[in-house]
Amino acid sequence: MASDDVFKKIIAHCKEYGFIFQSSEIYDGLSAVYDYGQNGAELKNNIKQYWWDAMTKLNENIVGIDSAIFMHPRTWEASGHVGAFNDPLIDNKDSKKRYRADVLIEEHMEKIEGKINKEVAKAAKRFGDSFDEKQFRETNQRVLANQEKIDSIKARFVKALEENDLDDVKQIIIDCEISCPISGSINWTDVRQFNLMFSTQLGSVSEEANTIYLRPETAQGIFVNFLNVQKTGRMKLPFGIAQIGKAFRNEIVARQFIFRMREFEQMEMQFFVRPGTEMEWYHHWKDVRMKWHKALGMGDEKYRFRDHDKLAHYANAAADIEFNMPMGFREVEGIHSRTDFDLGNHEKFSGKKIQYYDPETQESYVPYVVETSIGVDRMFLTVMSSAYTEETVEATGEQRVVLKLPPALAPVKLAVLPLTKKDGMPEKAREIMDTMKFDFNCQYEEKDSIGKRYRRQDAIGTPFCITIDHQTLEDNTVTIRHRDTMEQDRVSIDKLAGILDDLVSMKKLFQKL
Ligand code: GAP
Repeated sequence: MASDDVFKKIIAHCKEYGFIFQSSEIYDGLSAVYDYGQNGAELKNNIKQYWWDAMTKLNENIVGIDSAIFMHPRTWEASGHVGAFNDPLIDNKDSKKRYRADVLIEEHMEKIEGKINKEVAKAAKRFGDSFDEKQFRETNQRVLANQEKIDSIKARFVKALEENDLDDVKQIIIDCEISCPISGSINWTDVRQFNLMFSTQLGSVSEEANTIYLRPETAQGIFVNFLNVQKTGRMKLPFGIAQIGKAFRNEIVARQFIFRMREFEQMEMQFFVRPGTEMEWYHHWKDVRMKWHKALGMGDEKYRFRDHDKLAHYANAAADIEFNMPMGFREVEGIHSRTDFDLGNHEKFSGKKIQYYDPETQESYVPYVVETSIGVDRMFLTVMSSAYTEETVEATGEQRVVLKLPPALAPVKLAVLPLTKKDGMPEKAREIMDTMKFDFNCQYEEKDSIGKRYRRQDAIGTPFCITIDHQTLEDNTVTIRHRDTMEQDRVSIDKLAGILDDLVSMKKLFQKL
């Protein structure tokens, strides 16, 4: 299936099964803003719990906070967001559509990369087992020519961004003959910088002084609370502060469903370290975070690191963890070495000393920071992209859509299904629900045939269904059906909780970290 089709199917599935709805849909929606439905909210909460517990429970030196969305406006001057949180935008004069200039150029490079990959795949097929990909990439003339093209565009593009040379950014678009996907023309405006922060007014008078921003990242709430947490928690370096919360960005090109939203949620952790040790911690956190992703069992080959070509205004090293989504490898998480930029600037802008007294070196200094920052919504998309499966049931030839979600993240863990609505089966099923519901999110369903009920549970990714039948009433056993294999076993009711706990608990994931 073409990747576009897969993506469309995932979006439709999310709506049909109560995972994600367009915000304010009855008013024709609000662009790039989404609501999570009954199953989406559960899945999202499980993702957040997996992250929060991995940070705060598994690390004695990481604590969590929950800071406000609104912050003093000086915060965003100190952080550099007022001056530098911009995207370069460009308009096509014929279609009147607006694009991010950097995204147009990156997509152009991806297309050339696609040609290389096709060439490699063709050769791999032709040469079979004897194929040496490295040698092929180093010697094939067409591959080399295309690689050279990518390298030279990239070098010029990075230089233009670093020097804020917006004229050259436009010239690259023209030289590469990048056309508007709507009008097909290369009739472009100049490139302009566009600040991504939303602003609003605090209080009733709209004066300049009262302008405040909706935070574009949660990190600053952590920085301004560094001393509060360090002192009240008697924290010793190195230590981390974690936070989950909403962030807002007026994205120019908000598209690709929940990949790029205007209101989204971040899970960020700032790890404060002694200056000079930041690179060691940067590599440490890259490894730890990759492990966290891979422990979900969605396929190690679907992840890769990507070093940043152009560093953000606060970073001295940065890499993304990318996941192979239907539209290709895309950023899910960033790991950034932010130096002492933020704390140092808050010290300067607030006039308050923000330093740590190190009892070992007997010095006071502004700590350095390594940040891990992941979007909850992007993580959600990652999980959905990996889970969505269409398959043919071998026994019946029937098609089924099943979400092969990591069991610990599934919205519903157990579906309790009486075979029929009579003979005391619903009562027995309710009895089981009433004992299991304290530990697991369960769903009771008695309408329609068992087959139809199984399909509905497959579609929301429920790892286990149990059926209560005549035999249950006689010997207190139920059939348990496994979502992925569709195999069924007969088990005693008093063993259910143990079986489930073994397979759906987050503990199993944590033990892999
Ligand atoms: N504090 C650092 C920071 O905010 P970022 O790379 O701009 O860094 C971190 O964002 C993560 O937040 C990204 O890796 C992505 O998962 C998520 N994110 C950023 N912008 C987003 C958007 N418009 N919609 C959804 N998620 C977004």
